[in-house]
Amino acid sequence: MALSDFDLVFFGGSGDLAMRKLLPAMYARDVCDDLPATARIVCVGRDAFSQEEFLRFVEKNSKPHIKETPADATWARFLQRIVYVALDATDAASFGPLAEALRQDAALTRVYYLATPPHLFATICDNLARTGLATPNSRVVLEKPLGRDLASARQINLDVGKVFAESQIYRIDHYLGKETVQNLLALRFGNILFEPLWRREWISDVQITIAEKIGVGNRLGYYDTSGALRDMLQNHLLQLLCIVAMEPPTSIAPDAVRDAKLQVLRSLKRFTPTTLAQNIVRGQYRSGHIDGQAVPGYRDEPDAPKGSRTETFVAMKAEIDTWRWAGVPFYLRTGKRMADRLAEIVVRFKPIPHSIFKQPTSSFQPNSLVIRLQPDEGLSMNLMAKTPGDSMRLKQAELELDFREQFTSPRMEAYERLLVDVLRGQLTLFMRGDELEAAWEWVEPILEYWEQNDSAPLPYTSGTWGPAAASALIGRDGLQWREEALPED
Ligand code: BG6
Repeated sequence: MALSDFDLVFFGGSGDLAMRKLLPAMYARDVCDDLPATARIVCVGRDAFSQEEFLRFVEKNSKPHIKETPADATWARFLQRIVYVALDATDAASFGPLAEALRQDAALTRVYYLATPPHLFATICDNLARTGLATPNSRVVLEKPLGRDLASARQINLDVGKVFAESQIYRIDHYLGKETVQNLLALRFGNILFEPLWRREWISDVQITIAEKIGVGNRLGYYDTSGALRDMLQNHLLQLLCIVAMEPPTSIAPDAVRDAKLQVLRSLKRFTPTTLAQNIVRGQYRSGHIDGQAVPGYRDEPDAPKGSRTETFVAMKAEIDTWRWAGVPFYLRTGKRMADRLAEIVVRFKPIPHSIFKQPTSSFQPNSLVIRLQPDEGLSMNLMAKTPGDSMRLKQAELELDFREQFTSPRMEAYERLLVDVLRGQLTLFMRGDELEAAWEWVEPILEYWEQNDSAPLPYTSGTWGPAAASALIGRDGLQWREEALPED
């Protein structure tokens, strides 16, 4: 469905995110003829680029991030939509050129996307209000990091809330824009098969992993003040956990889904200093090898503070205190410079109660459902099946659903999907203010504990699955991370 006409404003419009993700996402929509001829993209930045200079900057910094090299004609058409406006976001007096660049038509969709450091959110919103640009039908998108603790997240909600109503605010978590995450909703609520089993009586444990091969790259300045817990767990992993664990919402309407997720966040068992020490492992990568290439350790990355204690890995055992989930461990894990790039959710079912075969019950692998987000998108169900031959021997077999093979229609990148939702005014895949605060509220005792105890992360070699303590954490419950349990090739 083609979009209706819009002015889309990117604050931080010459920044890394705009170049790598946002403009390529808009180009992808343009190439599908999804954008109205007059739709405009206004890139706002501090640098005094002329319009021509900025378009050359886009050519150099954004075009290489477009998957299929654009044809000259479509690229030229796309560039025509882009307007560059230089302003000082902290000075309302400099907003004049932005006002001039925007069309004064109440029927037009107007979106302000704040891809800036969060300390600028309040000032930008305030200045938009002062200059009359925050109209009742405009929308604002907030890019992460959405705070670094509960107080700062609350402050963001408060500041932005002074200018925009909750229904105008789109808090991005790009994991919610990934196809497989939405497919998880389809799996749970579009099939009768799973929901009756989706509870403590039948599920023994859930693992959620987001592992990356990349290190911190050129983001050390930000990353060193953040760490894996803030950067990945508080947002992406908890959002995945919410979608796995939430009660069936009554519909896909934004508040129905967000209420259900909020309930999960509020039901997460709080950590105490004792349970925290036992159930959370933090790590930091040392030098090692990724794909055969030697890579430096975190503390040897350019500009890394000497002896930095920032974690690049975190693993934990979380629990949800509800009738549905009481006693079911949710193992969460994320890290940089790990053995492989993968994002997956593994739901393991309970073992069979009794074997009618000659094989002992212990030789039956419990059923498991693996939902893969990355690197490929798919789903596999592990079952026990009879091996061919004259004896009744059972072995694990796999039912595989590869979404790319099954559905050949073009796919949308996460940012593309989410930008389209903003332009259409669909809030379901964005976090509500209370969700954001509930996630920080749960994470905060962990941050405080680490700070108070000056706790150093455990070292792990780049190219491995993290510190041995992460295997011990799950091993204590007689379990293994999925890749540890896989048979050797
Ligand atoms: C971002 C984090 O939110 O997600 C990065 O700030 C991380 O540190 C990235 O690399 C991972 O996203 P994806 O989509 O590549 O898995």
